[in-house]
Amino acid sequence: MKLAIVIAVDGPAAAGKGTLARRLAAALGLPYLDTGLLYRATGRRVLDRGADPHDAAIAAAEAAALHPDDLARDDLRGPAADMAASTVAAIPAVRAALLDWQRDFGRRHGAVLDGRDIGTVVFPEAPVKLFVTASPEERGRRRWLELLSRGVAADAAQVEAEIRARDAQDAGRAVAPLKPAADALLLDTTRMDAEAAFATALAMVRSRLNLL
Ligand code: DC
Repeated sequence: MKLAIVIAVDGPAAAGKGTLARRLAAALGLPYLDTGLLYRATGRRVLDRGADPHDAAIAAAEAAALHPDDLARDDLRGPAADMAASTVAAIPAVRAALLDWQRDFGRRHGAVLDGRDIGTVVFPEAPVKLFVTASPEERGRRRWLELLSRGVAADAAQVEAEIRARDAQDAGRAVAPLKPAADALLLDTTRMDAEAAFATALAMVRSRLNLL
């Protein structure tokens, strides 16, 4: 029987976690969950109601009412959705409502999950934890290039400022703040392309798993 291994991939915005985690999952034959989508979809539902993402009662109700179809919406990215996700993510009742969902997903068949608190809160017992970072300048540059490739002409300095503001909110919150778990392996991708980051991450995961 295949082991239900959970691999936690955490880190700040635009560090390349998503691409990395998706590729790791494919290479290891594990399901993949982008946990940021849960917060993005919750934030979106709050905005759809015309409500303020800081409103804890409304945000918690929307998190509890989340439907899998919400995660497939095509309007979950962009400056307003980014900040709404980060704002609802600071509300303890929102995080509590999404916790079991993430744990059930990982426990079923094992999984690679990416987010901010997978290694610290959702799966503190995960045998492999990666904390993926890159400098804020490099993350801003990557996000700007990504927007450009989608035909969105954005101001590079503003994109970097938005990323810094979101990281400050994600790392500064009281509940489940963005930070590496004590036993996380750090991967700084500032000077790596996506290919090199993936190869390095896969080697890190394999050496951790061999030690089990
Ligand atoms: O990974 P992302 O950029 O799509 O996440 C969007 C927001 O959701 C992020 O700013 C913080 C929040 N988030 C979180 O608090 N915990 C997670 N496990 C994943 C995302």
